Amino acid sequence: MKNLFIVFDGMDGTGKSTQISMLHDYLFKKNKRVRILTTREPTYGIHGAKIRKKLKQHKDPYKDSKDLLDLYVKDRRDHVNRMIKPFLRKDGENVSIVLCDRYYYSTIAYQHAQGIELKKTLSLNKRFLKPDIAIILDLHPETALKRISKARAVEKFEKLEFMKKLRTNFLLLHELIDDNMVIIDTSGKEEEAFEKICKKVDKLLR
Ligand code: TYD
Repeated sequence: MKNLFIVFDGMDGTGKSTQISMLHDYLFKKNKRVRILTTREPTYGIHGAKIRKKLKQHKDPYKDSKDLLDLYVKDRRDHVNRMIKPFLRKDGENVSIVLCDRYYYSTIAYQHAQGIELKKTLSLNKRFLKPDIAIILDLHPETALKRISKARAVEKFEKLEFMKKLRTNFLLLHELIDDNMVIIDTSGKEEEAFEKICKKVDKLLR
């Protein structure tokens, strides 16, 4: 088995956390030599802390676009260099797998929806380590918003018209970047989406 860098991305409310934790358990049980780093962006490092503060400051989804773009990219640089790459370095007979909740796909979709030029979001992210697979979870914005509102208070980017833009951007990604990407519909049961994800990941592990 080879080392793997797996990214989950998509709008808020699409079920990323659930699918990541299901995949984590599945991979952990699959083979005793597997070591897994489950991590997220924004991180809890210095840039991540600034991001979270900014997200709370203005509830208008279009505010702070330039500052946020800059912070998400800086946060990612630290994350990749200090955590992801070192974890993926060969470690004897062990198989290292990184499961990352959000990556540059979020910057392209969210910051472009905020009004930043697509070209700029793409160029700032083109040098980052490419994942072996990016699993983009997809759902109707109305359904995603309903799921969020049931669980907690809505946040900065969780407004219907903004989420519609996000969805369009996420679905456009495969035309913009040459990454191994798969779009998974999460409107049905959790197990149905998970089965599709497992098939894709198992193929990579062979
Ligand atoms: P989120 O995944 O909700 O973090 P947490 O659950 O730990 O608070 O991320 C916070 C928000 O940041 C989310 O609405 C998506 C947004 N975001 C961007 O706009 N650009 C990015 O590059 C990333 C990584 C996230």
